Amino acid sequence: MKILVTGGAGYIGSHTVIELVKAGHEAVILDNFSNSRPEVLKRLEKITGTAIRCYEADIRDREALEKVFSANSFDCCIHFAGLKAVGESVIKPWEYYDNNIGGTLVLLDVMRKHSCKNIIFSSSATVYGNPTTVPISEECPKGKCTNPYGQTKSMLEEILTDLHTADIKTNNPNCWNIVLLRYFNPIGAHKSGLIGEDPKGIPNNLMPYITQVAVGKLACLTVFGDDYDTPDGTGIRDYIHVVDLAKGHVKALSAIEKKCGVAVYNLGTGTGYSVLDIVHAFEKANSVTIPYKIGPRRPGDIAVCYSNPEKAARELGWVAENTIVDMCRDSWNWQKNNPDGF
Ligand SMILES: NC(=O)c1ccc[n+]([C@@H]2O[C@H](COP(=O)([O-])OP(=O)(O)OC[C@H]3O[C@@H](n4cnc5c(N)ncnc54)[C@H](O)[C@@H]3O)[C@@H](O)[C@H]2O)c1
Repeated sequence: MKILVTGGAGYIGSHTVIELVKAGHEAVILDNFSNSRPEVLKRLEKITGTAIRCYEADIRDREALEKVFSANSFDCCIHFAGLKAVGESVIKPWEYYDNNIGGTLVLLDVMRKHSCKNIIFSSSATVYGNPTTVPISEECPKGKCTNPYGQTKSMLEEILTDLHTADIKTNNPNCWNIVLLRYFNPIGAHKSGLIGEDPKGIPNNLMPYITQVAVGKLACLTVFGDDYDTPDGTGIRDYIHVVDLAKGHVKALSAIEKKCGVAVYNLGTGTGYSVLDIVHAFEKANSVTIPYKIGPRRPGDIAVCYSNPEKAARELGWVAENTIVDMCRDSWNWQKNNPDGF
């Protein structure tokens, strides 16, 4: 298939481009490099042995999208482009709604005009809010998102679903096919050490924070709260290797091919690890020490969140394969080979 990968220069997008090429698909990137660097493209070429076409464009730029869709006939779009920092979204809600929702509306409009109505959307476990039970399956009701970033994911799921419903109600023979992938916590990096997570400024997420402490860029990790109702008091999450996550997108194309309508899948491992589990696993896997201190809870953080990934296994034949040791080793391999990122 020929696939447009919006945000394909970013962390998850770049790993997905590799897996798409490996599976024999043609991937075309569209990215405005607001949170990534063009250097990624050289690295992707090195890993895949193929030149990857990339359009530098913003998904809010209708004219630019029109040109891209006129020059290419895409079978599907994998839509990663968006802003993703939870804390920043509280301070800059307009920017998040404009970029994530405004941008996606423009993209969807151009897609339908060009009769490309297949999309795989990067959603998030954040749409479950504070779940009442774990593990979380896709049937669990969506919860209240406490920040604009989470709201954009939840709203976009609704918008996409409404587009499909309208097609059904109007007997449209060319219906939208939509896969909503709810990611848990991606970490790790490509085994080559050539690409990985490259946050701008102080990292918001645990693993890049740990690797930057390990490499000496940051002095000490702050653990946000050790008084949660968990065995060691720190928050529990479902960490998933980014390469496994990337492979989930390739598998999701099979749902598109089967004309799935709207399909929702969790992409997680089904196992929860606490913050301190991760710190200790990282230390053990890489023979390094991570100094840490306990700080107050971070507003909006929940105690426990991990997936039931059985639906993706059953329907897509996708199962996460990498262990927590692989995730820690590959994250460190990326950071130590690229102390200043790309
Ligand atoms: N990383 C996570 O923990 C996580 C978890 C759940 C969901 N997601 C979602 O997955 C997607 C990818 O996440 P990521 O971690 O790879 O983020 P990322 O920031 O590394 O990648 C996003 C890419 O989109 C680009 N982009 C942003 N706005 C754009 C616009 N208006 N036009 C064109 N390009 C634009 C950025 O330059 C970047 O390259 C995002 O939608 C994110 O919300 C991420």
